[in-house]
Amino acid sequence: MRTIAHLSDLHFGRHDDQVAEALLADVSLKSADLAIVTGDLTQRGRIHQFEAARSFLDRLGKPVLVVPGNHDIPLYDLIQRFVGRLARYQRFITGDLHPFIDDGEIAVLGLNTARSAAIANGRVSRSQARAIVSAFANVSADRTRIVAAHHPLLAPKGAAATLVGRAVLAREALSGAGVHIVLGGHHHHALSAESAPDPVEARREILVVQAGTAISERLRGETNSYNLLQIQPHRVTCAIRLWDGANFDTRETSAFVFVDGKWVRS
Ligand SMILES: [Fe+2]
Ligand SMILES: [Fe+2]
Repeated sequence: MRTIAHLSDLHFGRHDDQVAEALLADVSLKSADLAIVTGDLTQRGRIHQFEAARSFLDRLGKPVLVVPGNHDIPLYDLIQRFVGRLARYQRFITGDLHPFIDDGEIAVLGLNTARSAAIANGRVSRSQARAIVSAFANVSADRTRIVAAHHPLLAPKGAAATLVGRAVLAREALSGAGVHIVLGGHHHHALSAESAPDPVEARREILVVQAGTAISERLRGETNSYNLLQIQPHRVTCAIRLWDGANFDTRETSAFVFVDGKWVRS
């Protein structure tokens, strides 16, 4: 079994220090094997914001897989936005915009969906779609396959969601790669887990997990939260850990089993 702390939308620069400290303590208590951060580490992509984000990641004290969000491309500094783009992110966070981990139980691919020009909603390129398929081509069949991106790649069953640009292309690639779970952020809305049926084949479902904003003040009607996932072959439990003003606590847990290509609540 693997335990993943899924954090998103930290927005250093518009963050709450008390919540950040409590989050560090909570994640270490939960003994996660891996932290996955799905973007918007900073509010405006400024150097001191990236320095604060870097320090936070170091203090997590765990292996971390990170992807950038739209807020990690500077907005107002036009040279940084269109020429530098993710240079600061790559300097302070990681040079690898498509990190990949296969730890023997889970295989995780991070996808950079942030774009200078598309501003908020991001995009998947055709080469990224091909990269999704090739990343998992030689992965052992017993691994749980996970893709992490800032912008939502899929809409959960029965829910409307603003998706990344070229979401249809992304879906084909995810299905082709046999991906089981996608992790995302961006909307600052926590959704512990829901399945996304395949619109083409009506067959294989992918589990959608969205994280809220972990420590930022950009709450959009929700409190701060992160997701704690426990992953076994064909079995996932996802808890939303909500900030209650003093601590993070589990308010909602969803458990799913993957049976005949569908994720069934258990
Ligand atoms: Fe955000
Ligand atoms: Fe975002």
